[in-house]
Amino acid sequence: MKPVLILFLAAQVATSTANAHTGVQDDEVLARMDGMSAIAKEMKIIGKMLKGTAQFDPKAVDAALSAIGDEAERIPALFTPRATDPKSEAKPIIWESFEDFSDKANALGAVTDELKGQILYAPDLAPLMQEIGQTCRACHTQYRVSD
Ligand code: HEC
Repeated sequence: MKPVLILFLAAQVATSTANAHTGVQDDEVLARMDGMSAIAKEMKIIGKMLKGTAQFDPKAVDAALSAIGDEAERIPALFTPRATDPKSEAKPIIWESFEDFSDKANALGAVTDELKGQILYAPDLAPLMQEIGQTCRACHTQYRVSD
């Protein structure tokens, strides 16, 4: 596994376990954070198979990909309200470049659609995580504070 990928996975796990959404007051911010956490949870299911701590199961991979795709579809709607919260990591530029932001959400959905049914062997998992991870990063580097 490439160091970049390991770092990425570690960062996602750290974020989602450290952040239990404590102290978030705005419901709309909370809803979009919950959406992201749901995505991260599905990524972890695949990540465990990649690391070998869970058995490779192509059906479970497809289920996770479907769930990530469904969440990706919800991203533009979840971020439509220009909601803020002191705990939010969303950059204000999202709402100045909302079309591009939505395109990046659609890119995640497109990748999960494309990969569904294609992951037949465990060695397919590393390129899958890399491909999906790139779409997460493409959005986070531009639109999320901590990345
Ligand atoms: C279209 C843009 C976009 C895409 C694609 C995207 N994210 Fe995010 N993500 C964000 C933004 C913006 C935030 C910050 C939201 C906030 O704090 O208000 C965020 C926050 C998060 C968080 C922190 C949630 C919390 O509890 O505060 C996690 C975890 C996360 N994303 C994981 C992922 C993973 C994994 C992927 C890819 C499978 C992904 N994201 C794809 C934009 C995106």
